[in-house]
Amino acid sequence: MKLTRKDFPEDFIFGTATSSYQIEGHAFGGAGRTHWDDYAATPGNVSRAEDGGRACDHYHRYPEDLDLVAAAGFDAYRFSISWARVLPDGRGAVNAEGLDFYDRLTDAMLERGLAPYATLYHWELPSALADLGGWRNGDIGDWFADYTEIVMTRLGDRMATVAPINEPWCVAWLSHFMGLQAPGIRDIRAAARAMHHVLLAHGRATQVMRGLGMGGLGGVFNLEWSNPADDSEASRLAAARYDGIYNRWFMGGVFKGEYPAIVLEGLEPHLPSGWQDDMALISQPLDWCGINYYTRKNIAADPRAPWPSLTDVPGVLPKTYMDWEIYPEGLHDFLIRTAREYTGDLPLYVTENGMAAHDDIMAGECRDPHRIDYYEKHLSEVARAIAGGAPVKGYFAWSLLDNYEWSFGYDKRFGLVHVDFDTLARTPKGSYHAMKAALTEAGR
Ligand code: FCB
Repeated sequence: MKLTRKDFPEDFIFGTATSSYQIEGHAFGGAGRTHWDDYAATPGNVSRAEDGGRACDHYHRYPEDLDLVAAAGFDAYRFSISWARVLPDGRGAVNAEGLDFYDRLTDAMLERGLAPYATLYHWELPSALADLGGWRNGDIGDWFADYTEIVMTRLGDRMATVAPINEPWCVAWLSHFMGLQAPGIRDIRAAARAMHHVLLAHGRATQVMRGLGMGGLGGVFNLEWSNPADDSEASRLAAARYDGIYNRWFMGGVFKGEYPAIVLEGLEPHLPSGWQDDMALISQPLDWCGINYYTRKNIAADPRAPWPSLTDVPGVLPKTYMDWEIYPEGLHDFLIRTAREYTGDLPLYVTENGMAAHDDIMAGECRDPHRIDYYEKHLSEVARAIAGGAPVKGYFAWSLLDNYEWSFGYDKRFGLVHVDFDTLARTPKGSYHAMKAALTEAGR
């Protein structure tokens, strides 16, 4: 990797990210059942019907994993807390073992000089709450606030930053309209409600943490560049609608207290009554904004389909093993656009960026030049955005470990570190060594 720490401001934070269900091993430590366990147990939803029962067994191996993070020279570790590990039924009785685990994990980060960047919800809803309608039920704001209070009363004094929700678009649209993640619903009314309730939960959790005297509170949004697939006016409009649903709904709600008209057009009839009254809570001030960025989509109009009447068509750029086009310029453009249109001087972090590949170990080594190239190109775009005036303060590589890639199971490897899912052996890949060299040898 040609870029090093020296190409970024002195206080720029480099980190790597993971999430609880994807690595911990949900069967361990008294965690409750989640809607991902249910989704995976339903035929046809997940490749090979794999689930997060054992995953990377980070629950037991976290010291070794955090040693790897520290040895690479990272400054911070972005992790998430599982609701069902702390509250097996989502409400009521606390699983003391679960809370103790996150306490140990936090101290283990601090002992290694790693700043804890926490997320309170990275997708594993307790099944008992899914039974009550999950994200469709407006009470979820209060359930989430109570969970937040329990966790942050214990951990809040040691967190560098906290984001309530990882990627609200995935929680709402991908899971309730497209049906491609748990709970696998395909229903516009369910989707509209989830689109609002996920931000309501963000607002309630933020309010609770402010009440506990905490700072460092932000939000993490996944953004996808929406490119019109052809020159027609209809496709231009379809791409704007896609941009609205994917990107602008959530940023508009959180940073402006309003939803974009181009999306309300389709969703307003399905929103819960009185939704406008929640917008002040949803848009309370934050301390930073996180962007997860992977790819772009090429959007064409599909006039025969009901609203939003669009479809995505394959693009011409090189693709990752997820079949996602590699489009680094989109990261630059989003950082600039976010600062200009939504967040002003607020610190921005790239909270996830990375690629999946089919990485094999050969002669004891795992070479992944494709991933080094991906990181290099995206980091260059971050540097360009900083030069262009965007207040970007940090970058987190997704992910530390190969892990449970949701409905794709364990086949899509995103890690800087290879995991053998039979033996659970960890082998740092070429990209890990490249990152380490960029952050340590050359940079300090
Ligand atoms: C993001 C998720 C993360 C992982 C990456 C590849 O959308 O936050 O858990 O699945 O994509």
